[in-house]
Amino acid sequence: MGFQEVYGVLPQASAQAPGRVNLLGEHTDYQEGYVLPTPIPYFTRVEAAPLEGAVEAFSENLGELRARPLSSPPQGDFLDYLLGVVRALREAGHEVAGARFYVRSDLPMGAGLSSSAALEVAALRALRTLYRLPLSDLEVARLAQKAEVEYVGVRCGIMDQMAASLGQPGQALFLDTRTLAYENLPLPPGVRVAVLDLGLGRRLAEAGYNRRRQEAEEAAKRLGVRSLRDVADLCLVESLPSPLDRRARHVVSENLRVLRGVEALRRGDAQAFGELMTQSHRSLAQDYEVSLPELDALVEEALRAGAYGAKLTGAGFGGAVVALVAESRFPAFREALAQRFPDLKVL
Ligand code: GLA
Repeated sequence: MGFQEVYGVLPQASAQAPGRVNLLGEHTDYQEGYVLPTPIPYFTRVEAAPLEGAVEAFSENLGELRARPLSSPPQGDFLDYLLGVVRALREAGHEVAGARFYVRSDLPMGAGLSSSAALEVAALRALRTLYRLPLSDLEVARLAQKAEVEYVGVRCGIMDQMAASLGQPGQALFLDTRTLAYENLPLPPGVRVAVLDLGLGRRLAEAGYNRRRQEAEEAAKRLGVRSLRDVADLCLVESLPSPLDRRARHVVSENLRVLRGVEALRRGDAQAFGELMTQSHRSLAQDYEVSLPELDALVEEALRAGAYGAKLTGAGFGGAVVALVAESRFPAFREALAQRFPDLKVL
């Protein structure tokens, strides 16, 4: 199958965007903090052609063709992401009449690897070519996030869209989500970023994510700061009532871990970087309470199998674990994990 078989005409543009894992800086991006994601070599690809007043798309993975006018409300399906980006472009003043898409992806969906950001960014890249839009990669990321928040209706931060639009293979994207200043930093030589997916899904993720956002906002308000990014002294969080003290401690300590992680990357120190990842996981599990027993067990097993460090990646409440492993140790690492978790997918 392809664009031509579905629509009877050739596509006029094509583009792709990768998924991501987050190495450090989890649940900081909605409190103007620091993040450090890296793209993974799994992609969503789209082909596109213009269409007047509507968006139509075929998803190869779902085997579904969907079409709706630009004015229609979201329906909770994959077409929402595409309608969302077309509408975001039009609201920003770009002349985009509509489009037809053919979508395919080798990125696992619902595993916390940002398949939605990859779809949004791939579609925006194709539309940029199709309608010759003067859009920077940074604007692409901002429009993708706007589509997701305002049309799809998920209150995410900007990390995933920035990683899909600006991330480079083999590099970590050090992003300040307050200013959107960013820098791509090479990962230490000879290491591998392993994605460990138990296929847990993320059933309660959205409700849990929104609750954590509210708690973080409440903590910032009580501390009298615009966002938890402005809290430099960890002792200040102790004055908060439970569980806000623990929520704030995670965010404040996580920002510090990103800054230390950046120093470790500049030194090429995989050991130190890995230790920060594991500390991040423990903070996410104990203070932010977004882990699951299965994810904790997977992290411990990855460490036992020789990883420099491991943590859940993304929002938590399910999803995948990311581990940093020496390239030379990877075959034994994979073997040890496969014995312990027969259903585990190692990407
Ligand atoms: C999801 C959101 C991101 C970020 C992470 C947690 O992936 O889309 O914006 O908040 O959770 O770090």
